[in-house]
Amino acid sequence: MIRLDDRLSAIAALVRTDRRICDVGTDHALLPCRLCELGAEHIIASDINEGPLAAARANVEKYGFGDRISLVLSDGLKNVPPCDDIIVSGMGGELIADIVAGCSFVSADTRFILQPMTKAEVLRRYLYSAGFEIILENGAFSGSKAYTVMLVGYTGEKRIIDSGFAYFGKNTDPRYTAKVNSQLRKLAHGDPALLDIIREEQK
Ligand SMILES: C[S@@+](CC[C@H](N)C(=O)[O-])C[C@H]1O[C@@H](n2cnc3c(N)ncnc32)[C@H](O)[C@@H]1O
Repeated sequence: MIRLDDRLSAIAALVRTDRRICDVGTDHALLPCRLCELGAEHIIASDINEGPLAAARANVEKYGFGDRISLVLSDGLKNVPPCDDIIVSGMGGELIADIVAGCSFVSADTRFILQPMTKAEVLRRYLYSAGFEIILENGAFSGSKAYTVMLVGYTGEKRIIDSGFAYFGKNTDPRYTAKVNSQLRKLAHGDPALLDIIREEQK
């Protein structure tokens, strides 16, 4: 059994394994390999760089999923055929927003599983401005770092979100709250209004 860290496990938990899946920016392809173990029949594992795709190929062969994982060289979703569940993880929020914006096959049934390493507030603002909604967010913790993992759908209703929601989203995990509060305290040196959205922390 492939053992993923908490961050990748939290992502895997939100993927529908009976759908057409793509992992954009797959790098090592451990997540697609684990999803195959969990029952996925076909996954596209894409990356913009040849080096990560070579690492992905090595893992796909090592775990024997060559007939179920297709490796694709692609900038975002440009060379990716229509999929239902699209994973974009381990990148900055601005890049993830660009990749989602480049999706040409969104429907009401499309799901994005997004995990920004930085600038989650930029990603949330983009998502709502473009007619997406966050269905749920879960906390994930690898090492001492707190992450958020978003499950996102498309409604077509465009909305402007407030700063509190942009920074915290639907993630109510105390460790994520503490991380965002710390970020806001630093940012408040340039924008004191951000102190107003800091949330109470559970001890
Ligand atoms: C830090 S790794 C994250 C790997 C994995 N998704 C994870 O969450 O652990 C980021 C990967 O995204 C790829 N990448 C960066 N920009 C990309 C883009 N525009 N389209 C596809 N892949 C991209 C990089 O080549 C790299 O392999």
